[in-house]
Amino acid sequence: MDEKVRQKTLRMLSNGVYVLTSRSEDRYGAATVSWVSQASFKPPLIMAAVRTGSNVFKCLAESRSAVLHIVGDRQQEIARRFFFPTQAECGTINGEAFTEGRTAAPVLPNLPAHVECELERIVDTHGDHAVVILRVVEAECREQVRPLTIAESPWEYGG
Ligand SMILES: Cc1cc2nc3c(=O)[nH]c(=O)nc-3n(C[C@H](O)[C@H](O)[C@H](O)COP(=O)(O)O)c2cc1C
Repeated sequence: MDEKVRQKTLRMLSNGVYVLTSRSEDRYGAATVSWVSQASFKPPLIMAAVRTGSNVFKCLAESRSAVLHIVGDRQQEIARRFFFPTQAECGTINGEAFTEGRTAAPVLPNLPAHVECELERIVDTHGDHAVVILRVVEAECREQVRPLTIAESPWEYGG
């Protein structure tokens, strides 16, 4: 296999841009993620591939809850804040205000919509990311927006 062709081809998969947050007691994890999809209507499940070394993965594995936020097409600067390791201080995560959701996972009110989830299963195939299967237990849509996608952003993640 030609590695460059593999990378180029996998980078043409259609992906959105989201922010995934989680909290385990006094530790927080928040990351921009793009490897996300719905996985079942009934029950409502979503799946995401999350880097096993990340703070958000560790918090999610421990607390078994997380919030997946939609990012609007004019909110690149918010997504960019969550490319970096999580820093929580004075009611903010990576500089963004947050509130507490039903499961105590952090909700970012400046993003237009979110689903709050409980962890169903972690599928860890010993790759650098594990697939987390999440059951949606709450949803909030503050504003109907055009969602940001990888294709319309300056970023790439895949290969
Ligand atoms: C465009 C883009 C998309 C990303 N998508 C994912 C993803 O799908 N899954 C993931 O685990 N990390 C993804 N990342 C990396 C995380 O955003 C990054 O590792 C983050 O710092 C993790 O923070 P944490 O370790 O504090 O949880 C992506 C990064 C970029 C720039």
